[in-house]
Amino acid sequence: MKKIITLLPGDGIGPEIIEEATKVLAAIASKFGHTFKFQYGLIGAAAIDKCGHPYPTATHELCLNCHAILFGAIGHPKYDNNPSAKIRPEQGLLKMRKELGLYANIRPVQLFSSLKHRSPLREEIIKGVDLVIVRELTGGIYFGEPRGLNQEGTIAFDTCVYSIAEVERIAKTAFQIALTRAAAKRENQQATDSLEATDSIKPSEPFKPKVTLVDKANVLATSQLWRETVKKLHESQFPEVELEFMFVDNAAMQLVTAPSKFDVILTENMFGDILSDQASVLTGSIGLLPSASFGSNVPLFEPIHGSYPQAAGKNIANPLATILSAALMLRNAFGLQEEAKTLEAACKAAIDNNILTEDLWEPHLTNNKGQSKEKTQIIEKQAHTKNNQERTKAYSTSEVGNFIVQFIENSSS
Ligand code: IPM
Ligand code: MN
Repeated sequence: MKKIITLLPGDGIGPEIIEEATKVLAAIASKFGHTFKFQYGLIGAAAIDKCGHPYPTATHELCLNCHAILFGAIGHPKYDNNPSAKIRPEQGLLKMRKELGLYANIRPVQLFSSLKHRSPLREEIIKGVDLVIVRELTGGIYFGEPRGLNQEGTIAFDTCVYSIAEVERIAKTAFQIALTRAAAKRENQQATDSLEATDSIKPSEPFKPKVTLVDKANVLATSQLWRETVKKLHESQFPEVELEFMFVDNAAMQLVTAPSKFDVILTENMFGDILSDQASVLTGSIGLLPSASFGSNVPLFEPIHGSYPQAAGKNIANPLATILSAALMLRNAFGLQEEAKTLEAACKAAIDNNILTEDLWEPHLTNNKGQSKEKTQIIEKQAHTKNNQERTKAYSTSEVGNFIVQFIENSSS
């Protein structure tokens, strides 16, 4: 298979994490006999510095002429404390979303079992969390007009606008994702049930898909339109999916008190922005979560975290969210299931073996406890690090990438 991938490293740690993702994608390509052609574009502060615009036309052309986009991060401290700056890096991201019609942002939140003790929530609360936030990405208060200031500069305003058509298309995406997830879970369940089947063990209950619409329909007109529209669509096209309504303040609370009750959360642009950051830390590190955005054109894949400027250029940032975003790309943009699974298995191996950057690495796990000497040696060899029993520091960004490349090369598929 031949694919053209546009890489948009962006700002801060973006270039380093994208570099690791390209390494592992190249390893997948050679393992499975594909050709991935990479083309680079400028975006964000990096683009402002080079050509005065956060989303140059040349970048837009590259994005239109490829099969998928992999994006790093956006944002630079020199703009953060100057909210009135006329040109801002974030405008590049918003313009790209709008111009590429990327209306559906999918943010899965899954727990890696070997990291459950890193969650800010107690283990019994975090247990079983497996949810997806489906966020509307090109409408609402982020884009509504009018916006700005009155003539005297004493009053500022933003407008939240949604049409039935905008709500319907994102709601369809959410219902379809709920059905696909349920089908995949049923398949897994059947496999486990048949392995464990005995007279005394009953097969588990079939997994039922659920969509929770999060809104503020007790206050906002747009939310009322969302509720009516989603309800009608549910009745006419997706009655087999359970539909639940929840106010956003309650949803924020439920996310930290009973997160495992959620399956698919469907919500508008700004609520989705806020809740997805909250949901992303439930699993212990924001550095692990990938995301995908779909729309009328080419899909885009990106880590959830930001540009982490303090770490830029230091080779310490966690590349896993970007590498897992590349796995989503393989599966969802190119239909490459085996390749995606191999890449995800490699990331899981890195996590399970503590081949991790400083945000997650645990000194006491590397050496004696929980790991044999032989295993440590193999892992360290794979990660191209010195075979040093007393490892005293976390792995670097590129060491994690190297480990994943080695894992792919050594994998049996
Ligand atoms: C995100 C980010 C962006 C957003 C910013 C950088 C404009 O926070 O992707 O969640 O608010 O959508
Ligand atoms: Mn955000």
